[in-house]
Amino acid sequence: MGKTEIKYLTLSQEDLIEAGAFDLQMAMKALKEGLVKFKDNRILFPDKIVQIFNDETQERINCLPATLLDEKICGVKWVSVFPPNPRRFGVQNLSAIIVLSEIEKGFPVCVMDGTLCSNMRVAAMGATAADVLAKKDAESIGFIGAGEQAKMHLLGMKAVRPGLKVCKVAAVSVAEEEAFIRDLSPLMPDVEFVACNTVLKDAIVDSDIIVTATSAQAPLLKAEWIKKGAFYSHIGGWEDEYEVVKMADKIVCDDWETVKHRTQTVSRCYKDGVITDADIHGNLIDVLSGTKPGRENDEEFIYFDAVGLAYVDVSIANAMYECAKAAGVGTWSYMQENMIFEKDLTGKVKF
Ligand SMILES: NC(=O)c1ccc[n+]([C@@H]2O[C@H](COP(=O)([O-])OP(=O)(O)OC[C@H]3O[C@@H](n4cnc5c(N)ncnc54)[C@H](O)[C@@H]3O)[C@@H](O)[C@H]2O)c1
Repeated sequence: MGKTEIKYLTLSQEDLIEAGAFDLQMAMKALKEGLVKFKDNRILFPDKIVQIFNDETQERINCLPATLLDEKICGVKWVSVFPPNPRRFGVQNLSAIIVLSEIEKGFPVCVMDGTLCSNMRVAAMGATAADVLAKKDAESIGFIGAGEQAKMHLLGMKAVRPGLKVCKVAAVSVAEEEAFIRDLSPLMPDVEFVACNTVLKDAIVDSDIIVTATSAQAPLLKAEWIKKGAFYSHIGGWEDEYEVVKMADKIVCDDWETVKHRTQTVSRCYKDGVITDADIHGNLIDVLSGTKPGRENDEEFIYFDAVGLAYVDVSIANAMYECAKAAGVGTWSYMQENMIFEKDLTGKVKF
């Protein structure tokens, strides 16, 4: 091994799956460790950089860095969000790539698909919240939205509530509901899937766990459909009417200070004076660490809103990288075999 070589592991989505890194339990463990380390000031988390190409559709590419000081890993997620993609091209909305570097020499160690990690992070966050905020005996789950985030969220919820028996799904088209069921039902044969024929109410009424994961930007979820004791994971932007926020016994966020400056329903309620800081029960870490109580009875309606924290993506990505290395999966590539002027450059330089 040359002293000045730089090699990094390239991991495609297929490599990660082959390595066993499509693991929601592993993601939840990495997520919890990330939340604790951030609280203990062991993570650097600068502002993200946003470039929006279309104000109306919100097509954008964001750059989100974070450093795990204890793991000595600095990572960045380069993530594209193109909401019209499914309708316009029949492809996913979100795609991402993640780069991890060590922080001794500062050299890159891994370039990996970030879509799987990013989607697992969203699901791991909702599922970790459900673990402490949803009823222990939850049996039914209802989805508004049947896209990539919804699918992954079901895996997360089933990981923490294996007793889920019924999954109802409503989306803009029946074809999407059917695709959701086609993709998920082989993975959980003990669950009865119900396509709701685009009738959103039918997915929600009587559901112990409610998930909205849409690109709608409209108040789709109605308070009157929600039963006592439900847990609600809100994933998209504006997806529910203000009454849903107002009826919540507890509102928990991944990070309220981040959420309140965004465009989620709770953020809108805050900006419109419908809720104040005092109406927020706390952040998920407060509940996980025991600073704030989780669910206290079977009657509470608990609202969870997460906008995403890039240091959690980097924490999960690092766990996936370690998993892939241990499995011997992926392709090692040279960034350089030696330094620029150590090479024979004769006849190869233009100046
Ligand atoms: N909170 C987070 O950390 C986080 C992370 C990633 C993505 N997101 C957001 O999650 C949302 C879903 O993302 P995705 O990748 O699953 O998108 P997607 O395009 O794959 O799916 C969107 C779903 O929304 C449904 N939908 C749109 N309008 C609707 C309406 N009026 N009624 C019912 N259903 C409707 C569509 O039918 C579709 O099933 C997006 O808003 C995205 O920005 C949030």
